[in-house]
Amino acid sequence: MIIGVKEVSFCMKGKKYVLGVDLGTSSCKSILIDETGQVIADAVVDYPVYMPRMNWVEQDPDDWEKAVTLSIRQVLEKGEIDIEQLVGMGLSGQMHGLVALDAQGRILRPAILWNDQRSAEQCQRIIEKVGGKDNLLEMINNDMLPGYTASKILWLAENEPGIFDKARMFLNPKDYIRYKLTGDFATDVSDASGTGLFDVKKRCWNERLLYILGIQKDSLPKCFESIEITGRITGAVSESTRLPKGLPVIAGGGDAVIQTTGTGLVKEGILGTIIGTSGIVAMGLDGYKFNRRGALQIFCNNYPGTWHAMGVTLSAGASLEWFKNVLYDQNFERNAYKRMDKLAATSSAGSNGLIFLPYLFGERCPYADPSARGTFIGLTYKHRKSDMIRAVLEGVVFSLRQVAELIIECSHVPISEIRTSGGGSKSELWRQIQADVFQLPVKTVSGGRHGGAFGAALIAGVGCGIWADVFEAVEILKVETETMPNKDNKELYDSLYGIYKDMYSMIKPAFKRLGNVY
Ligand code: XUL
Repeated sequence: MIIGVKEVSFCMKGKKYVLGVDLGTSSCKSILIDETGQVIADAVVDYPVYMPRMNWVEQDPDDWEKAVTLSIRQVLEKGEIDIEQLVGMGLSGQMHGLVALDAQGRILRPAILWNDQRSAEQCQRIIEKVGGKDNLLEMINNDMLPGYTASKILWLAENEPGIFDKARMFLNPKDYIRYKLTGDFATDVSDASGTGLFDVKKRCWNERLLYILGIQKDSLPKCFESIEITGRITGAVSESTRLPKGLPVIAGGGDAVIQTTGTGLVKEGILGTIIGTSGIVAMGLDGYKFNRRGALQIFCNNYPGTWHAMGVTLSAGASLEWFKNVLYDQNFERNAYKRMDKLAATSSAGSNGLIFLPYLFGERCPYADPSARGTFIGLTYKHRKSDMIRAVLEGVVFSLRQVAELIIECSHVPISEIRTSGGGSKSELWRQIQADVFQLPVKTVSGGRHGGAFGAALIAGVGCGIWADVFEAVEILKVETETMPNKDNKELYDSLYGIYKDMYSMIKPAFKRLGNVY
């Protein structure tokens, strides 16, 4: 039987499929995978990002809903699977964003996204209210960042009190989609960890913090482990998407966490790097670790009893995208990244002494500093376009290495390999730069290129019983590329990395002064 709108029974014989849906920052991706981990079909639908003011980043949740519906319809059409063999779906999504709904579930204002910096002052006030950063770390094991949901809720209360008074539900982006798909007001432990309101050690909302901040617990969704079923597809959604009515929807996870799960980062010792718009460095933790410096993000992982350490450098792929836009006319954009790669390869390791600091959106990790700026250091008359592109690639990897060092310091675990994913992992040159800067083998695995959607599908498979647990699920991943480090570049990269690391504190006062002028 081919896809149709129909209620089905969910325990059946034959091949099984799961659907993963990732609500990204620029698009929604849906994928269908089978029980061998093979991607049967995928579909991507874009939506706009709005920047109504400096440092404000918003989206319309209605756009998300339309894109999710369309991408699900498209993936089901492309996949041509027997609907009775679809056993469940999982959700992944951009983390930290704030969707405020009234008592009837109506959207009260545009969603405020993870990369919006408007609530820096509220972060400071939250830290003061709890009696300092050490107390905050004891409560949520994380620092309070302007990206997080908590400071956005306070911003709303202080700046848009009319809307705040009407708000009855606060949701992260993927959980708004869940609400539309199943009618349930639910989230998962990994996304909840990124709200700044969650007791990451105990895996529940921190009620004392909610009390101190004046946030009602019932305005936050019920929290589930990532592999749990939170609800089922409604009849109306079945009509619009062609998903079967009653299909189980698994809790899933925040994209930064679940896409690392999707590349097999469920145990200590393998470090993940994801080069998307931002750059994520992450490792699965076998047990809870205290975030002593507060520089990392330590969140609940997608499997009960496991945690996830990561740091996010805000402009990774975004740095290259920015430079592409600087260099090329829109009309020549088609193969721009390939051309840039080729050019960068004509420069040499170390970009002939040019260093790039990738702080184009301010920075989150290793420095939480919204006023940091992107910078080229060491330019001379001799430098060419090729050196500048290569310096951008290298600067992003230096930033990843700085985050990695914090993870190693916190976990005391030596790293044996890097698994890389995200758009940036497609570049052979960028993979080689990673291998050389880290002096470790860099691998890509099947599924990695599908990001959060693949992780969401894997977790859904665990939740629906295809795999016994997440450790069994990641056994299906296959290594696709392996890049070995060039030992000859070690000394050079170590020296440049040392200079790179010193630069931020030297130049920081200039960033502040510049911020006062412009
Ligand atoms: C993670 C983070 C981003 C967003 C957007 O902390 O801010 O990865 O989830 O994808």
